[in-house]
Amino acid sequence: QSSIEVEVGSLQAGSSLVVKWRGKPVFVRNRTPEEIKAAQDTPMADLKDPIARNGNLPSDAPATDVDRSAGKDKENWIVMVGVCTHLGCVPLGQQGDFGGWFCPCHGSHYDTAGRIRKGPAPMNLEVPVYSFISDTKIRIG
Ligand code: FES
Repeated sequence: QSSIEVEVGSLQAGSSLVVKWRGKPVFVRNRTPEEIKAAQDTPMADLKDPIARNGNLPSDAPATDVDRSAGKDKENWIVMVGVCTHLGCVPLGQQGDFGGWFCPCHGSHYDTAGRIRKGPAPMNLEVPVYSFISDTKIRIG
């Protein structure tokens, strides 16, 4: 189906779930304050891919933490297609040098905002089109 609804009300800070959407895994994470701060404190100049890659924003939106997240009031939430932008493996959560996601296939390290920081992947993990349809439910697609 082209869109799915996901109940996220039971996800405490620091927990994630993975859903399948259009045949791909989608990561939904309720980030901790530490994870958000780490991403916010990262200078833009340190980013390998400076573009947000967020389907909800203009294609040239910068890869700031807020523009990678669900937005200003929901910056704790991050929703991303769980497909490494190198050759398509599924990255592992809360691993790697930046505490975000790590792709074991060829060693790509993504940060807590899903931005590529080290390794062969060229782009940040894709943020799909999604929205909160209630405080506890998101629609992806
Ligand atoms: Fe992820 Fe190559 S597929 S690093």
